[in-house]
Amino acid sequence: MKPVMEVSGISKSFGGLKAVQSVDLSASAGKILSIIGPNGAGKTTLFNCLTGIYRPDTGSIFLEGREITGTQPHEVCRLGIARTFQNIRLFGEMTALENVMVGHFHHDEISLWHILSHSPAHRILCGRNKEAASALLARVGLEGAGDLPAQSLAYGLQKRLEIARALATQPKILLLDEPGAGMNPQELGGLIDLIGRLKKDGLAIVLIEHHMQVVMEISDDILVLDHGEQIARGIPRDIRNNPRVIEAYLGKSSSAGQ
Ligand SMILES: Nc1ncnc2c1ncn2[C@@H]1O[C@H](COP(=O)(O)OP(=O)(O)O)[C@@H](O)[C@H]1O
Ligand SMILES: [Mg+2]
Repeated sequence: MKPVMEVSGISKSFGGLKAVQSVDLSASAGKILSIIGPNGAGKTTLFNCLTGIYRPDTGSIFLEGREITGTQPHEVCRLGIARTFQNIRLFGEMTALENVMVGHFHHDEISLWHILSHSPAHRILCGRNKEAASALLARVGLEGAGDLPAQSLAYGLQKRLEIARALATQPKILLLDEPGAGMNPQELGGLIDLIGRLKKDGLAIVLIEHHMQVVMEISDDILVLDHGEQIARGIPRDIRNNPRVIEAYLGKSSSAGQ
């Protein structure tokens, strides 16, 4: 099967700092590619390049065969790449349902005029949107939480809500930046189940994650970055035993190896 996303030779520097150096990757439907590496390795910067937040200095990004390098973030999202952020970025005072509906509006043919005039078209779209958003909440295990303010949800549930909001844009590929950060073991177990279900549904998933238990359990492929460079790639068993990977982790902050 052809990959959903193919990326080659991506580099990004900040002044003299080479944050990402000539990284290649490909992501396929129904597969999980994990990106690991010590803090500061360039993982989030790579996501920022893939989602149009940064324009890479070199390299190219193809989505379903079409080059999208340099495309603006909202357009990248419309084309089918969704992401969650390392730090939670929900609208805290809005309800869980409203947070998901915000993601869904990206795909509705609704104009500002429709919204301001409370036109019938707006009401119909809102109704459909609400149903779709409720279904997404259920998909991530948040049924019953729709009317609660996002900020009142437990941390692990807020992380799930972010995933629901990303799914609302109807992506082909989902980029998750440390979804398990700050989760307790029980929440991590739930996260593994959820990501596994999304994979089964055919999404292409790229996962940045520090919890090795999660990475080793669910990844089809792993790419290891260190100082912006790809130092290893392969299946979990090979990565676990790779001397360069072990050295990169043991030589760095201990938080990276948890
Ligand atoms: N906007 C920026 N300006 C300057 N330096 C940055 C910026 N974003 C990231 N960096 C630097 O790039 C390197 C990689 O950061 P990051 O991609 O956040 O790493 P990771 O997600 O792997 O922890 C770090 O040294 C970080 O300080
Ligand atoms: Mg990061």
